[in-house]
Amino acid sequence: MSSKSNGNLRSREWFGRTDQLGFIHRSWIKNQGHPDQMFDGRPVIGICNTWSDLTPCNAHFRILAEQVKRGVYEAGGYPLEFPVMSLGEAIMRPTTMLYRNLASMDVEESIRANPLDGVVLLAGCDKTTPSTIMGAASVDLPTIVISGGPMLNGKFQGRDIGSGTDVWKFSDDVRAGRMTQYEYAEAESCMSRSDGHCNTMGTASTMACMVESLGLTLPSGAAIPASDSRRRRLSHIVGNRIVEMVHEDLTISKVLTRQAFENAIRVNAAIGGSSNFLLHLLAIAGRVGVDLCLEDFDTLGSHMPLLVNLMPSGQFLMEDFYYAGGLPVVIQELRDHLHMDAITVTGKSIGENTEGAKCWNRDVIATFDEPVQKEAGIVVLRGNLCERGAIVKPSAASPELLHHRGRAVVFESIEDYHSRIDDDNLDIDETCVLVLKYVGPKGYPGMPEVGNMHLPPKLIKKGITDMVRISDGRMSGTAFGTVVLHVAPESAIGGPLALVENGDMIELDVPNRRLHLDVSDDELARRRAAWQPPTAPHTERGYARLYVEHVTQADQGVDLEFLRGKSGAFIPRDSH
Ligand code: FES
Repeated sequence: MSSKSNGNLRSREWFGRTDQLGFIHRSWIKNQGHPDQMFDGRPVIGICNTWSDLTPCNAHFRILAEQVKRGVYEAGGYPLEFPVMSLGEAIMRPTTMLYRNLASMDVEESIRANPLDGVVLLAGCDKTTPSTIMGAASVDLPTIVISGGPMLNGKFQGRDIGSGTDVWKFSDDVRAGRMTQYEYAEAESCMSRSDGHCNTMGTASTMACMVESLGLTLPSGAAIPASDSRRRRLSHIVGNRIVEMVHEDLTISKVLTRQAFENAIRVNAAIGGSSNFLLHLLAIAGRVGVDLCLEDFDTLGSHMPLLVNLMPSGQFLMEDFYYAGGLPVVIQELRDHLHMDAITVTGKSIGENTEGAKCWNRDVIATFDEPVQKEAGIVVLRGNLCERGAIVKPSAASPELLHHRGRAVVFESIEDYHSRIDDDNLDIDETCVLVLKYVGPKGYPGMPEVGNMHLPPKLIKKGITDMVRISDGRMSGTAFGTVVLHVAPESAIGGPLALVENGDMIELDVPNRRLHLDVSDDELARRRAAWQPPTAPHTERGYARLYVEHVTQADQGVDLEFLRGKSGAFIPRDSH
């Protein structure tokens, strides 16, 4: 590994000069009270903070940033914290996914434009993790991620409840008359009772595990609860370590190798991770130039066993996962199937990092030989309804629906769905297939998490809990059901999904990786000739326009096409 001496640090281009620009760079920042020795050639560490009151999952990040600063100072570095766009999953409209790429641009340009030698990314809520990594990867400095940590277990009426997952259940209970509005309101405060992100194996926890399995954080970094003092301790140690990484010139691209991505895919299968993982991992791979495609997820992950018994597929929550031993145990269980020599931010391999990991609760983390479920990874479907692929998460689905043929009940938009789904006269039964159009990247725009459509109340009252649902949108990582997602090409650009009509027969055959619309080619050609592309709302100007003009499809990670790749850390011109 090459090493960087203080004399050739990137920050010296700003702080190491004796000319007028050097005066300006140092003088203004000294107004914060920084003494002269901060400019003596020590590594300058950026702390990229997605803190925001509007991102509740990241609202404790200023405390973590202070801990990182302590560690950086202690190791002889100079820490400088800066804010970037934050994406609050539970609040932003129309969907945070619309803004993931925008936030990544903010991160990328903020890092590159400033005198930084290394970066610590503070991320937690769903999109704050991929967006910060995507941006940092396009600059390629030494980088460590600190995940914010999950909330403590929710507590309601004497039992544990999980973020998101129980919201979907409670909402169905209210619709079916099994829960009162008073209880529903009471559950709000019981679900989110501490700092941290969603505590199920939803997208945020999946992203935290992705960070750890990619080797981008310190061991156990995924699962320590946000409120546990060990999360702050880890942040302090990260501050120490990032300074060493600068000296070692251990850049993010040295960690994000093809091996690391393969490890992340296999670990994601074993934890029952969110389907959103695919989109984010593909986008990150696109930034660092690692060749990754949709089929890799099926080939590498679909036959992996499910080891972690967490909601939404299972029973427990992230707090339990940490006490059971956390991700290091999972990594050790999978050791014969992972690249255990993949290098991580510790400077050691992922195998060395997790050596000796012990499991303290086999109800939460199963062994490889006696898993929770035998084959759990996300499956990639092909067929005339999804020429560029679609996905389904078998661990969240009903086994009896994984091979199913049914009559399509079509909704032409999310508004159409909301206006008709509660109608008792809707012509639908439990064998039907719900189809939702125009919720893809360009169509919505932003590919919202609406793929897990609620079932019609008249079927819920009959005791029906799952039906096959198909869309070009996404599904919350906290949700469950036999839900086919990410259909590509999406309906808004004329993908075959746009041509489905009420009454068409659709066959889902997960064992054979097939999604088939049983309509003749001639009839599809006739429908295509008559098809009119819709215009997504509010896309005439601004970022939304840029987004719909340049966003890629689900099989390429939904990044903006011109953001793929990296520009590195070099800036050809001085500030003027
Ligand atoms: Fe932030 Fe779920 S809402 S992680």
